[in-house]
This record gives sequence, C-alpha cells and structure tokens, in this order.
Amino acid sequence: MQKTSDVIWQDTQHQQLFRLIDQIKECNVDSSVFKKLNDYAEYHFMLEEQYMETLEYPDRDTHKAAHDKFRRELATMLEEHETYDEDLRQSLSLFLREWLKRHVLGTDKKLERFIMESSVK
Ligand SMILES: [Fe+2]
Ligand SMILES: [Fe+2]
Repeated sequence: MQKTSDVIWQDTQHQQLFRLIDQIKECNVDSSVFKKLNDYAEYHFMLEEQYMETLEYPDRDTHKAAHDKFRRELATMLEEHETYDEDLRQSLSLFLREWLKRHVLGTDKKLERFIMESSVK
C-alpha cells in the first residue's frame, strides 16, 4: 500500500486495517481475526469521528454514515464468520479492501486535508 496520507496516525491505521483485511482470506485463518478487524476498525472510526467533532468538520454526518455502513458489514461478519468457507472469505476480503480503498482515497482524503489545515494534528 502506497503512502496516502500526511496525517501520520491516519495513514498508519489504514495500513493496519488493510493488513487485517488481507488476513481474512488466508487459508488457515484464526477466527479471532474477525474480532481484531472489528475492534481495530471501531478504534479507527472513533478517532476520526472525534477529530471531526472537535474540528467541527462540515461533512461529518456523511462521513460518519459511511463508517456506520462499514460497521454493519463487520458486525455481520463477526456474527457469521464461523459458517464461512474459503471462497466466501476471499470475496469478503476483496469487497472490504475495495470499500476501504475508495473510502481512504475519497472521504478520508477530504478529512485529511481539513485536519492538515487546522491546528490539531
Ligand atoms: Fe473515515
Ligand atoms: Fe479512515
């Protein structure tokens, strides 16, 4: 994954999210990876949302709604992962990776610029 952000914590956390998403499709995956991904995504989304609140970011409702959609996907996976076979894990991993890539390059990029222009980093 190329460096996509100048806000260091945000970039580091995105890379960790991509790593966890990739682990989902590994053959002898430990099922705890779904819990780790869910927890880490929550930690990351909360932090972005705290920044948005603190900085009174104008697009925060739309951005939070996008996080909520991702939260719902992850919650379902956490509930149902024990029934998944390898094919399904592969396609879910791909789906999450595409979703996150779009979010990072679009929605998060706008927030990143806003954070860079503010005094809080
Ligand atoms: Fe975000
Ligand atoms: Fe993000």
